[in-house]
Amino acid sequence: MTDCLIDPVRLSALLGRARGRVDAEVLAECDSSNSVLLERAAHGAPSGAVVIAERQTAGRGRRGRVWRAAAGDSLTFSLLWRFGGDISRLAGLSLAVGVALARALESCGVRGVALKWPNDLLLDGGKLGGVLIELASERGATAAVIGIGINLQPPPTVDGFALPAASLAGSGYTSNYHELLAALLDSLIATLDVFVADGFAALREDWQARHVWQGLPVRLLDSASGENAAATVTLAEGICLGAAADGALILATADGGQQRFLVGDVSLRAA
Ligand code: BTN
Repeated sequence: MTDCLIDPVRLSALLGRARGRVDAEVLAECDSSNSVLLERAAHGAPSGAVVIAERQTAGRGRRGRVWRAAAGDSLTFSLLWRFGGDISRLAGLSLAVGVALARALESCGVRGVALKWPNDLLLDGGKLGGVLIELASERGATAAVIGIGINLQPPPTVDGFALPAASLAGSGYTSNYHELLAALLDSLIATLDVFVADGFAALREDWQARHVWQGLPVRLLDSASGENAAATVTLAEGICLGAAADGALILATADGGQQRFLVGDVSLRAA
């Protein structure tokens, strides 16, 4: 990376599809970009509001985990998007976001980015990033705060994550923060447009092509123990058939049947 500090004007000049549809603010420090944006959403911030945090003091991951990164070592930002209609229309959103991120990284020359259900971004088998989506229901709509963390440098520790950490350092990526952020925002907006029009079903094939466990034997673990390797409870084992149109993971089980698991309920491991 050639630069660290993000300049919203420079970022905005690099935007394509997202130009005029996102409004990015850069904070030198905050507790969590998701928390800041949730608060702003409650006060009426519009769809497309983006908070980019150069440093988070209490970055959050899924299931109460911590997203830890030294300043400048991780790209951490959140995007607010409002969805009309029933909340069920958001099924598969975190998978759709994964597709958007993988496409953007690929467009920046990062090869071999893969996805792991429900929301991990992998590179060379390690965790490159993750997505934390938090929802707030509003009258006739749902506000989704889509939080994204991508490691630019290997994080100091990876508390609670079963996977080793990966980062863009050493991946061959030579662009800068601004280009990467612009590519991510463009891809997110393009993908959200598809998602709003046609749901995750329209992105499913691409997601499955990138899914690291597609067609492989897997074990699903109870979310209470989650990805913390210390104590895990196996819920099911089978061959991973992919994701349903609503984002549920589908397993072919030994008894010849199929089981569905919803996003957020389980974790995946190789069987
Ligand atoms: C996970 O893999 O568990 C999800 C990690 C998501 C981290 C990002 S960093 C930006 C945004 N703000 C947060 O507090 N969390 C998300």
